[in-house]
Amino acid sequence: MLTFEELIEKNGIFADLNALSPHYIPDVLPHRDGEIETLMKGVAPALKDARPKNMFLYGKTGTGKSSCSKSVMERFNAMNRNAIMKYINCRIYDSRYKVIFKINNEICKCDAKIGYPLSKLYETMVEWVEENNMHIVVVLDEIDMVKDVDDLIYTMTRVNDELERGSISLLGISNRLYFKERLDPRSKSSLYEKEIVFRPYTANQLYDILKQRAKIAFVEDAVDDAAMNLAAALAARETGDARYALKLLQKAGVIANENGDTRVSEKHVEMARKSVDEDLVIEAISTLPQHEQIALYGISLLQLKGSAYGKLGENVEDVFISGEVYDSYMNACKRLGVSPRSARWFSEYLHDLDMLGLITLTASGKGVRGQTRFIKLTYDAMKIKVLVEKIFS
Ligand SMILES: Nc1ncnc2c1ncn2[C@@H]1O[C@H](COP(=O)(O)OP(=O)(O)OP(=O)(O)O)[C@@H](O)[C@H]1O
Ligand SMILES: [Mg+2]
Repeated sequence: MLTFEELIEKNGIFADLNALSPHYIPDVLPHRDGEIETLMKGVAPALKDARPKNMFLYGKTGTGKSSCSKSVMERFNAMNRNAIMKYINCRIYDSRYKVIFKINNEICKCDAKIGYPLSKLYETMVEWVEENNMHIVVVLDEIDMVKDVDDLIYTMTRVNDELERGSISLLGISNRLYFKERLDPRSKSSLYEKEIVFRPYTANQLYDILKQRAKIAFVEDAVDDAAMNLAAALAARETGDARYALKLLQKAGVIANENGDTRVSEKHVEMARKSVDEDLVIEAISTLPQHEQIALYGISLLQLKGSAYGKLGENVEDVFISGEVYDSYMNACKRLGVSPRSARWFSEYLHDLDMLGLITLTASGKGVRGQTRFIKLTYDAMKIKVLVEKIFS
């Protein structure tokens, strides 16, 4: 009879599965020495009783922004000075109130309760920083998710005008190119005192990252060089995303294990590709801001229903014009009980969805009026519909 012991021990070619989990951060992050150094220099003044400049860190998904920041933070906090770096995931703490609430409870340790007015939380924070002469660097990861981000930046910057001792500075992180443009000019100049850009990884760099991780995650010699080369090349061709490359490797390992193979080969990476691509799309959709999810939902409903434009006998199948897509978005909002945003916002959502590769957006050629654009889904309409309905249920 099968025992749990057997099941637990049955890791096959894996030596340490944990090393491939999304939360794992290796001690050394290959090809990010320069970026880590810049970050360290940026926050170092706090260790010498001065206010570091606010910083903004931009880079495409999977370029190591979160990992490098956390790694710097660990070393910074190990210095045990009058300075603290605090990581806040703005996907969860997505408003000025929530961020300041968290600082109250986790840095100032003052046991704030939900419902306390913002002014009270603010005063407690200011008093605590001043009394302890503390320099706080708040890492706001995925800062684009904060709803009232201009207010947050304004408040956190203004704190310093009131402080005689200590300081608060911000390290904002985002993979959204358009985040900067949406900011109020005043918050922009506050946050962008210093800007750091993380470039996508090249295939060679991704190979090194995979090689380092394979050494920890797999038993010796369990991964073919060719398999890592292929995973690196595929990821580099897409976006230079280390997360994608690592997922390919992990999934390829699982497939090899399931087949009872003792080495991960190119064949397994090829097989892994489809399921990883699908997982990533699902993840991308699940983590979109609400209105972008609805926009995408609107397009899939339209596609399932068939475009009016298409019915008029135009050549294009499953390609929609922006007007009908906006109408469908408005209907979808009604259906989901959410108040719709203006057409101007909507056009930004489409832009974002295009950037993320979830739709393709093409400008109309000559002859079609003004701002009309053509929109096409890149992923299965039915799957999107089911997924978004699940999210909103
Ligand atoms: N230089 C590197 N060396 C080793 N692993 C890396 C490196 N860069 C990224 N990774 C790994 O790739 C994955 C993605 O990295 P990370 O989460 O830091 O990306 P990100 O830039 O924050 O992406 P996103 O914009 O999607 O949040 C993580 O599992 C991380 O451990
Ligand atoms: Mg990140």
